[in-house]
Amino acid sequence: MYDVSSPTYWDESYRSGRTGWDLGMPTPVFQRLAQSGKFQPGKMLVICAGRGYDARLFARLGFEVTAVDFAEAAVKEMKSRRELNVSLEVMQADIFDLPFFMSEEFDYILEYTCFCAINPDRRAEYIHSVSSLLRRGGIFIALAFPIGSRAGGPPFVVSPDELILPLAERGFRLIMREVPVDSVPGREGIEELLIFKKK
Ligand SMILES: C[S@@+](CC[C@H](N)C(=O)[O-])C[C@H]1O[C@@H](n2cnc3c(N)ncnc32)[C@H](O)[C@@H]1O
Repeated sequence: MYDVSSPTYWDESYRSGRTGWDLGMPTPVFQRLAQSGKFQPGKMLVICAGRGYDARLFARLGFEVTAVDFAEAAVKEMKSRRELNVSLEVMQADIFDLPFFMSEEFDYILEYTCFCAINPDRRAEYIHSVSSLLRRGGIFIALAFPIGSRAGGPPFVVSPDELILPLAERGFRLIMREVPVDSVPGREGIEELLIFKKK
């Protein structure tokens, strides 16, 4: 039985090419947001960054990005694809360990296919990590996927309320919610963009 909490499971997926989640490009929804000019560059943490397309997207636009993943193969690829003249730090780390050595450091946290990749039993810990790592007034951008009701995973299905309700208890205000029109084929209607501001 595989263990999604172990980096080995994910590392083997990368090494054997079982990376069906990988878009091979930045997420179109994030490209639109990044280019909208609504978000001024700041310190951004990209969690479960995978091969780093979204991290590089924001780094190119002047954000000071820290991209975290615990799979060695993903981290190696991100490091090898780093670009000149952008601020991108690549870290091999477990997102659940980050609050032990970082606190309220980031202006932004960005997530796609991270909440659905962790063991659902750890969702409260995930909320704790996001809440601890974001500074007051900071923005959490989550593209919640896949919304639905099937058993098993990964990806484990998610419900927007699983983010909205516990984050509200921690003082996060939902400032934007939409079903994107620019989801990639196959993901239309089963993802929601949720943007929160931490008080
Ligand atoms: C489904 S993939 C998504 C990768 C990337 N967000 C993308 O869309 O291409 C999930 C990623 O989360 C990473 N991951 C899962 N649990 C993690 C954890 N606890 N800490 C850090 N990375 C984790 C895996 O190594 C994998 O790269």
